[in-house]
Amino acid sequence: MSSSLWDGASIGELRLRNRAVMPAMGTGYGSPSGEVTDRLISYLVRRAEGGVGLIVTEVCAVHPSGKGFVSELGIYDDLFMPGLEALAAAVKRKGAAVAAQLHHAGRETFAAVIGEQPVAPSPLPSRALGQVPRELSVTEIEELVSAFAAAARRAREAGFDAVEIHGAHGYLISQFLSPYSNRREDGYGGDGEGRMRFAREVVREVRREVGPGFPVIFRLSSSELLRGGYDLDYLLPLLPSLVAEGVDALHVSCGVYDSPGNPTCPGFHHPEGINVERAAAIRESVGVPVIVVGKLHDPRLAEEVLAGGKADLVAFGRQHLADPHFLAKAAEGRYEDIRFCLSCNQGCIERLMFELKPVTCTVNPACGRESEEERLRRRGGGPFLVVGAGPAGLQAALTLAESGSEVRVMERAEEPGGQLLAASRPPGKEPLLGWVGWAERRLRSLGVEIETGVEADDEALSLESWRGVISACGASPVIPSLPGTELGVNAEAREVLLGRRDVGGRVLVVGAGPVGMETAHYLISRGCAVTVVEEKEYPPVLPATSHGYFLHRALRESGELFLAAKVLEVRQGSAVVSVRGEVREMPVDAVVWAVGSRPEKDLAEKARSAGLKTVEVGDAVEPARLLEAVHSGWEAAMAMACGEEAT
Ligand SMILES: Cc1cc2nc3c(=O)[nH]c(=O)nc-3n(C[C@H](O)[C@H](O)[C@H](O)COP(=O)(O)OP(=O)(O)OC[C@H]3O[C@@H](n4cnc5c(N)ncnc54)[C@H](O)[C@@H]3O)c2cc1C
Ligand SMILES: Cc1cc2nc3c(=O)[nH]c(=O)nc-3n(C[C@H](O)[C@H](O)[C@H](O)COP(=O)(O)O)c2cc1C
Ligand code: SF4
Repeated sequence: MSSSLWDGASIGELRLRNRAVMPAMGTGYGSPSGEVTDRLISYLVRRAEGGVGLIVTEVCAVHPSGKGFVSELGIYDDLFMPGLEALAAAVKRKGAAVAAQLHHAGRETFAAVIGEQPVAPSPLPSRALGQVPRELSVTEIEELVSAFAAAARRAREAGFDAVEIHGAHGYLISQFLSPYSNRREDGYGGDGEGRMRFAREVVREVRREVGPGFPVIFRLSSSELLRGGYDLDYLLPLLPSLVAEGVDALHVSCGVYDSPGNPTCPGFHHPEGINVERAAAIRESVGVPVIVVGKLHDPRLAEEVLAGGKADLVAFGRQHLADPHFLAKAAEGRYEDIRFCLSCNQGCIERLMFELKPVTCTVNPACGRESEEERLRRRGGGPFLVVGAGPAGLQAALTLAESGSEVRVMERAEEPGGQLLAASRPPGKEPLLGWVGWAERRLRSLGVEIETGVEADDEALSLESWRGVISACGASPVIPSLPGTELGVNAEAREVLLGRRDVGGRVLVVGAGPVGMETAHYLISRGCAVTVVEEKEYPPVLPATSHGYFLHRALRESGELFLAAKVLEVRQGSAVVSVRGEVREMPVDAVVWAVGSRPEKDLAEKARSAGLKTVEVGDAVEPARLLEAVHSGWEAAMAMACGEEAT
């Protein structure tokens, strides 16, 4: 049977206002001892206001040994009850239902987080975290089954509408389920049935504890997408037994910690709706509603999935971070107003996992700072001048305009976007241009037209009595001065990506930072034979990130990367390169430089000399990433707008 996103839905006895779900997303907003905080509640309330039917909380640890990160919420003790009660009540007041996600990390944590050696079905570390766990005894397994059940009881008593058992993504239940991580020969291993036993017992005890009728959702990875891991064929015959124990809905995700390229949070290079076909197959074989998740950011795509009868509900994860109001906009048909998630992972999952910082969103600087945003409402003031319509300038102008301030934006190029025009050219990067289009439309709707083809100079600085100037002038690429870099075979990465310089044949890309690696990817996709050289001993782009994995894979399969390698001279038809101290001459048709950029400081200096209150943002401060550009633009504009007297 097919349905629409806007139809009501049922999970067990729970009635939902529509078929949109916000899946669990760890935030890092919990307290260091795992309690709910006001910040977490404000963030969730903002998402509930957006109109979603069901919100699943982030991971909640059912046992102290199962915490995956320091601020992971706890549900293993009654002392967590007041915070959990406040969270559930706050979300429900906004009309969304709320489920608690019950979690044990198993081996995917650190002794430093839990104060003891991590536990797992077998003493095998994952490649990702490398923590050698201790094998659980049968008595300990029984204890953990009871811990899941006790946590479910607490969730119910705290006022949650449902629980979701986290059986996905390589955590404890998923570790038991998988031949990749479970090598036990006792009743909890051996074959698929044995490996499913822990999950079955957890569901059985949870059901016994919460009683009939209370909705129990089970989240699973429909395939580990990993050599040696399980796939859908392995899983399908095991699912009916799980449903028989009392599962009311299955939530279909994919991947574990060691899956290459992190398909759990599909990045630039993964397909949209990565789990849809597996969800459809699962739906065919079980008699309970199926929730599908994974790069389904556009509600129109979700509608297609539901209309095609491939799932019963659709989960929008990162899209809720990027634009908490996207569902309300979609319901009104205002798709052009939606700020879409880029699938960059930079501000959310990779920030949480690799930078150990609380989650935010590259394109939504207010994510996790909802109470700060409140300060901005209709401050008024101005006029302000924003110079540069790259991401930093666009965001600064948006924030000022949203505060009701008068703002002018001057951009010397013929179109806005700054470096994003080049950054959106490599395969998979098109969403960056989508963001520029969104920012332009939003500014226009606030009455601000970007003045393109206008160089801001002394004259612009004296045009009006500016209350403040935001210099978002970005950074210009540098090409070092070496023998031969003046020859016509040299080009700069941005020019190449923008099609202003046509290069072909054998191309040497200098620099393996993000710009060099992406330029290499772009050139490979256009049939060039690409060699990348990098001075550093280690690749600056981490292969562990989703984007980095695909960039390195492209080079591995269709190009070459030399580390500790330095260009000494460029000649017509070749380049002299030192690789680990050994000098060699490489035949090349073009040399493309991607070795960094220099901040544009002139305008800010002029504005300061003119006595104007001036703030620099984005790459004009220091070349960094999109996140820093957007966030610094937002912060500067907030400070300027709030520094004004309300009018
Ligand atoms: C190929 C490439 C790929 C990239 N990919 C990524 C990525 O995947 N993820 C990521 O996070 N980052 C990426 N980046 C980096 C990211 O694009 C930059 O960090 C970001 O664009 C910086 O934003 P900005 O607004 O500070 O500066 P810019 O984007 O450089 O914009 C500055 C703007 O100011 C204008 N300007 C300058 N002086 C004046 C003046 N006097 N008057 C009028 N206008 C002026 C310029 O014309 C320009 O449009 C990439 C960069 C490149 C080149
Ligand atoms: C920052 C972040 C934290 C996440 N934390 C959890 C979690 O606590 N539990 C979980 O089951 N999945 C977690 N996920 C996975 C998401 O629930 C979701 O499956 C994934 O983001 C793919 O969906 P999307 O493409 O709609 O974002 C997390 C994802 C992100 C981006
Ligand atoms: S940081 Fe990137 S992937 Fe994460 S929600 Fe924001 S736009 Fe999406």
